[in-house]
Amino acid sequence: MKIYEVSSYEELSEKAADIIAKVVKEKPDCVLGLATGSSPVGTYKELIKRYEAGELDFSNVRSVNLDEYVGLDGSNEQSYRYFMDKNLFDHINIQKFNTNVPSGISDNMHGECERYENMINGIGGVDIQLLGIGHDGHIGFNEPADNFPVKTHVVELEETTIRANSRFFDNIEDVPKRAITMGIGTIMKSKKILLIASGADKRQIVEKAFYGPVTPEVPASILQFHPDFTLVYCFN
Ligand code: GLP
Repeated sequence: MKIYEVSSYEELSEKAADIIAKVVKEKPDCVLGLATGSSPVGTYKELIKRYEAGELDFSNVRSVNLDEYVGLDGSNEQSYRYFMDKNLFDHINIQKFNTNVPSGISDNMHGECERYENMINGIGGVDIQLLGIGHDGHIGFNEPADNFPVKTHVVELEETTIRANSRFFDNIEDVPKRAITMGIGTIMKSKKILLIASGADKRQIVEKAFYGPVTPEVPASILQFHPDFTLVYCFN
């Protein structure tokens, strides 16, 4: 486990972009595992800046996102597909058909989970997975549980997650109650994992997850066992 403590969100975003950019440069057709939430927005801005400066080429890059709300289609402004288009994909030369976000509107969600899992394996697995962390230690939408979910699955969101994510919605009632997410096993199969956490409100969960015992009650704690895991945080 490599740990970098930085002193600002800008520095965190630059550090994360450095790590991702290195993978893209070394392997132009790499598979990037991407995340949503407020933490990665600065990282995506940095990657866009580097693309615009001619330093990065995404034309052969593939991407897979961690999760999506059940019930929202990609044209819904709260969907994670929409978030990715607006915060990253629309600003770089990645080919849209090379970008993957699980579908939240399939009429066979079980089949969609299986398709998504197989698709990730079929394109050779994730070279680097970017993660944020929820206040309860969730990664993707893997909520605290009795065991670590292995594969892509549908989850019931915790009340605390619904509350935290309601800041992006007009009303808390509009926040979907279910989501489709890569499993912990899916995430752990990534060749590299990079987790970014910023803000004083993340201190407690970061300490619990990475300086405490590994337990499914704190899903992110399993990352301590990953052979190539990097944590970048700032608590300002
Ligand atoms: C959501 C996402 C997670 C993300 C978490 C934290 O629940 N599904 O992938 O890590 O929020 O978000 P933020 O970075 O906004 O704190």
